[in-house]
Amino acid sequence: DSSNQPYRTAYHFQPPNNWINDPNGPLRYGGLYHLFYQYNPKGAVWGNIVWAHSVSRDLVNWTPLDPAIFPSQSSDINGCWSGSATLLPGNKPAILYTGIDSLNQQVQNFAQPKNLSDPFLREWVKSPKNPLMAPTSANKINSSSFRDPTTAWLGKDGHWRVLVGSKRRTRGMAILYRSKDFVKWVQAKHPLHSTLGSGMWECPDFFPVLSNGQLGVDTSVNGEYVRHVLKVSLDDKKHDYYMIGSYNAAKDAFIPDEESNIFVLRYDYGKYYASKTFFDDGKKRRILLGWVNESSSVADDIKKGWSGIHTIPRAIWLHKSGRQLVQWPVEEVEKLRAYPVNLLPQVLKGGKLLPINGVTASQADVEISFEVSKLRKAEVLDYWTDPQILCSKKGSSVKSGLGPFGLLVFASEGLQEYTSVFFRIFRHQHKYLVLLCSDQNRSSLNKDNDLTSYGTFVDVDPLHDKLSLRTLIDHSVVESFGGEGRACITARVYPTLAINDKAQLYAFNNGTADVKITRLSAWSMKKAQIH
Ligand code: FRU
Repeated sequence: DSSNQPYRTAYHFQPPNNWINDPNGPLRYGGLYHLFYQYNPKGAVWGNIVWAHSVSRDLVNWTPLDPAIFPSQSSDINGCWSGSATLLPGNKPAILYTGIDSLNQQVQNFAQPKNLSDPFLREWVKSPKNPLMAPTSANKINSSSFRDPTTAWLGKDGHWRVLVGSKRRTRGMAILYRSKDFVKWVQAKHPLHSTLGSGMWECPDFFPVLSNGQLGVDTSVNGEYVRHVLKVSLDDKKHDYYMIGSYNAAKDAFIPDEESNIFVLRYDYGKYYASKTFFDDGKKRRILLGWVNESSSVADDIKKGWSGIHTIPRAIWLHKSGRQLVQWPVEEVEKLRAYPVNLLPQVLKGGKLLPINGVTASQADVEISFEVSKLRKAEVLDYWTDPQILCSKKGSSVKSGLGPFGLLVFASEGLQEYTSVFFRIFRHQHKYLVLLCSDQNRSSLNKDNDLTSYGTFVDVDPLHDKLSLRTLIDHSVVESFGGEGRACITARVYPTLAINDKAQLYAFNNGTADVKITRLSAWSMKKAQIH
């Protein structure tokens, strides 16, 4: 009931109650999408982890099934942690996942569907040979830092390869294993890649992207028009970082394009972790799923009885510059759009607040584009500064020449509460820097929540490009895409006044220079069928 559960999402994935974290083993089988996820059947905090299971025809509406993988053998008796699915020849799904064994060691296990003619893949059978990979005194693998196997890929030599996240002292790494039959795995002499000082690599993901265009390819594809992405979830920083580079298949090594730029690019500059991609052979796209933790206190999570959501699945591809990835919510989510509101192009004067009426502001999809002309008004930035720090120092109430301008979401009647997503333009060494911020500082009168501001620079040129922003608003989540998917920021907010039909939506310009809104389209979002 939304009156006493104002923060439950209407179209972002979440189960009816309890704790969830990482998406696991996503795959498409017989026209159905399968999502597994880390789930505590017993409460709203982490623990007792099983693989809960839901299926979908469109990545938006989901049908829950019984947990697919749960502790049942000595190799996973203390927990079934994250892992991935691979489609073996003959279209046979296989799952590799981390088990916490009876000695509390992290080991890798194998499971396959009991009945391939069941499109729901309800029952999974574990290998009696489990664990297939384990720490030993010979391999010197740290038994508490050895987890989260990737989707496997097939080399030209007919051998499978898979990565497992790990660390040796402070050196984070993706340990590589090879196998001919998917059962007997041999550790490679060298990890696929490692970085000194980065700490534990959780949930690695390694996949090809085409150097041109938005189409995705199967994880085993390699060749002339292919680049590779290595993503790791850094336990020390709690963010998902990725590198673009080359995969040297002969040496089984990943070579990042810019060794100096390691751990700079992120999928999302807000709250976002433990993500994973899979190849959708139906629509020929690669899809990214990710977990968003709460920003509320543990006591509040227990009170509301649940914790954690997943983002809207995003299509992901390489930007034509080759220097970053682009993400965009899957097109299927647009089926939920209702009651469009379109505003005519208009100038938004400095200091103006423009109400966007006629949408359900607590459950909406908003697209807005700005054009700026008075670039000479841009504030000068003498020293390059971390964008998140810039956003927290210069929130939505701090005026500059060009900006802040953007959206106020979850705004209460008297503006006691609001969350702002906005641009601010700087000039730095004869170049323009476009900052995108998500400012949660005023999002709630309840100060027990984490109100951290987030931010990133968006690689757009305000001289020639429009500054576009799309924000998906859903009761306690604000998921924003700047520069047509070049910069993503996800935030969690818990307004006390601006809830349900009390929430309001505005465009605003708090800079001194006028900006032009070239497009403003907003929709109320229908509720998705999720449980
Ligand atoms: C990431 C993670 C994984 C682990 C799982 C346990 O959030 O810590 O490394 O497998 O969650 O639930």
